[in-house]
Amino acid sequence: MRSEQQATLEPGLRAGTATAVAQPNIALIKYWGKSDEKLFLPRTDSLSMTLDIFPTTTRVRLAPEAARDTVTFNGEAATGEAERRITAFLELVRERSGRTERADVDTRNTVPTGAGLASSASGFAALAVAAAAAYGLELDATGLSRLARRGSGSASRSIFGGFAVWHAGRADAGPEEADLSSYAEPVPAADLDPALVIAVVNAGPKEVSSRVAMRRTMDTSPLFEPWAVSSGADLADMRVALERGDLAAVGEIAERNALGMHATMLAARPAVRYMSPASLTVLDSVLQLRRDGVAAYATMDAGPNVKVLCPRADAERVAEAVRAAAPGRAVHIAGPGRGARLLDEDER
Ligand code: PMV
Repeated sequence: MRSEQQATLEPGLRAGTATAVAQPNIALIKYWGKSDEKLFLPRTDSLSMTLDIFPTTTRVRLAPEAARDTVTFNGEAATGEAERRITAFLELVRERSGRTERADVDTRNTVPTGAGLASSASGFAALAVAAAAAYGLELDATGLSRLARRGSGSASRSIFGGFAVWHAGRADAGPEEADLSSYAEPVPAADLDPALVIAVVNAGPKEVSSRVAMRRTMDTSPLFEPWAVSSGADLADMRVALERGDLAAVGEIAERNALGMHATMLAARPAVRYMSPASLTVLDSVLQLRRDGVAAYATMDAGPNVKVLCPRADAERVAEAVRAAAPGRAVHIAGPGRGARLLDEDER
């Protein structure tokens, strides 16, 4: 069954062309900082919820006659950094599969790109699943998670549906062992029925990429190490809260972890500040919701957009409050979604 939670290569699937779909994930315990930039090993473990909106659909087709890869992004030829990252990723898949054909990649993204809305997570998770299948690389879900990690760290988590933890692994080991040690896996959770209300404060691409911002934070922020240590404790608390099904605790831990991450960036030299006045207005509305008795908690990534975790039953009320705080901005309601998967012919 190709429509299962975890993406694995069907035995007998013909190498050549494959199409995969993946959704973004939003971290409740953040990934911020790499201990190995080449292997994409994170400094800390992280934990996320995969969403049921904003899918990326990617088709990889081997092109045996072609001299180079071609990449089409939302119907247009990809250029620059986006093309370079995808081509480098295909090179890795070719190395692993022992094949040399170039490929045509056609990717369609429904989420604003580069705005801290996890477009790279869905993008590289879909690409990993499609490219592995097209090149005949037989990987289980753990293997696909490791592979997706090499495109974008957070993509390792979008291989799985629901809640997933990404292990930092062992950057101190040799390259092969280090690579194997870092992957995501599902996290046991009670039935929480959560929603994430996403306020798109600004859909434009960010000024500082997460890669550059992470490096600067690790290199120069005196708050980075203390946050990394406390994030380990947050993760342990988060696991307990998820197992108990205590959504308010999940939200409280997620909010402190995210604001702590932004504090590390504000203390970088020079500072990286993704929060805008509109983000702060939305954060204020979340505080007001809590005063009014709604268990709403905010998280933010490498951009000004705010995601509010709350019980699904309160999602409309939270969305209303957020709309009032950010007039004219798009507000989306997401629930937990499925992991990355190959699409059948008739699903495309
Ligand atoms: O999208 P990436 O892999 O460059 O990482 C972004 C990291 C955050 O979104 C800020 C946090 C996270 O864990 O997703």
